Amino acid sequence: MSLLEVKDLSHSFGEKLLFTDSSFNLFKGEHMGLVGENGAGKSTLMKILLEEEVPSNGEVIWQRNIKIGYIDQYLKSEEDITIYEYLQTAYKEDFELEKRLNEMYEKLAEDYTESLMNRIGNIQETLEVNGFYTIDAKIDKVITGLGIDNFGKNTKLNNLSGGQHSKVILAKLLLENSDILLLDEPTNFLDVGHIEWLIEYLTGFEGAFIVISHNIDFLNKITNCICDIDLLNIKKYYGNYNKFLKLKEEYKKNYIKSFNVQQEYIKKTEEYIRRNKAGVNSKMARGRQKQLDRVERIDPPTKKRPPHISFEIAATESASITVKDLEVGYDFSLLPKLNMTINTGEKIVISGFNGIGKSTLLKTITGNLEKISGYIKISDFAEIGYYEQELIWKDNNLTALEIVSEHYPKLKIEKIRRELNSAGIEAKDLTQPIKTLSGGEQSKVKLCILMLKRYNILIFDEPTNHLDKETKKALREAIENFPGAVILVSHEADFYEGLVDKVYKIG
Ligand SMILES: Nc1ncnc2c1ncn2[C@@H]1O[C@H](COP(=O)(O)OP(=O)(O)OP(=O)(O)O)[C@@H](O)[C@H]1O
Ligand SMILES: [Mg+2]
Repeated sequence: MSLLEVKDLSHSFGEKLLFTDSSFNLFKGEHMGLVGENGAGKSTLMKILLEEEVPSNGEVIWQRNIKIGYIDQYLKSEEDITIYEYLQTAYKEDFELEKRLNEMYEKLAEDYTESLMNRIGNIQETLEVNGFYTIDAKIDKVITGLGIDNFGKNTKLNNLSGGQHSKVILAKLLLENSDILLLDEPTNFLDVGHIEWLIEYLTGFEGAFIVISHNIDFLNKITNCICDIDLLNIKKYYGNYNKFLKLKEEYKKNYIKSFNVQQEYIKKTEEYIRRNKAGVNSKMARGRQKQLDRVERIDPPTKKRPPHISFEIAATESASITVKDLEVGYDFSLLPKLNMTINTGEKIVISGFNGIGKSTLLKTITGNLEKISGYIKISDFAEIGYYEQELIWKDNNLTALEIVSEHYPKLKIEKIRRELNSAGIEAKDLTQPIKTLSGGEQSKVKLCILMLKRYNILIFDEPTNHLDKETKKALREAIENFPGAVILVSHEADFYEGLVDKVYKIG
């Protein structure tokens, strides 16, 4: 019996159709990857599965009495509790049971009865079976695994950065003992070591899960089946990601073959009908026409243009950044003193330590954060383009076109439209509020803002988060072809290997 049955599902936003008449199942033990291009509708499908979005058509049937774990989007960061206290709420029911148990003990001390004693025994057993007495150890394991101990489990939730926040939410989800996990791009805020930990966790997870990700190495390690949203259809393949790619290639070939065969048949039949419409064979021709009308036409295979990304060099090509004995952080220094230089034509990756350190360093170098001590020398005529990690917009209701025009008021709107289009954002998406664009589409808007000005130093903080395979490839090429200096923070070795000259391990 399937845990989840999706039947004849269709969904569209206004004129934009995401998928039609799609059906698939999720069975026990299945570790499913949900993939597709940016804007294909993966996050939307997940919302439909969680009943946060009502599908245009079709049905979603969950097996009864199963516990579904998903990212809690409604966590209020202003909540005045510590990380540890928040994580304990994953066991809310057990804690309530324990409270009842204690009340019963009090009552028992006053008025001993056999039946009360028995009830106490039962509750105690339930708590033991649920692992109540090892909760602290479990919480600690997840805290270490995801690197939450780097910013302290007693930190209040309202003091967390976006990335830290996401980690804590993921930790709670993993602690919740769900039968099914639904995760939307869980590696985006994790460093390499923590991704490895999550891979191990998910591989050993006894329930089923659906995980959206663009991280191929991660997907390959955790999945045993893939659901792909492409050509307005959701199709399930068995095997990990690499297997899926092969199967899809096969499927595409067959599709094109069938399409060509059908086109050939249609052409010949039409020709026959034309030649014989009026002659002695006209009855035959009419018969053929009927046959032809009954044929269910295969849609022509479409090939999308790959997204185009390129960064232009400033008039003065030469620029450098030198950092001496630099200490960065908020109230106290996060890292040992740092020394490094980057010159024109050099490309470096900064890697090596967990948590907020790397982004903090980039924020300090770009002058968005005060340094604690030390020295940052930026050469004259340096033009620094900075791609921040977080997707935060000043006003979520502005459209992509409005946002980019605000950046470059002198640019013609047509030029902006073309640039956004060629980066892979469809025309329809340009005029809707940015908050309704998918993660990948929003990232592309940020990339476009960098593409429309000339720089000699580019600084990227985890630019591949949210980006699909094709866009990552285009971005890699753009960085490769950029003659200026590039500083990159990335947890995706696949992306930067062979692209950069140097890896700075810091911390
Ligand atoms: N509330 C909405 N109103 C209008 N359009 C929307 C809304 N929500 C999503 N969309 C559009 O639907 C499409 C699918 O979005 P979705 O977030 O599901 O994509 P995705 O496959 O998760 O992409 P990504 O890989 O970039 O995360 C996008 O083009 C998006 O602009
Ligand atoms: Mg998404």
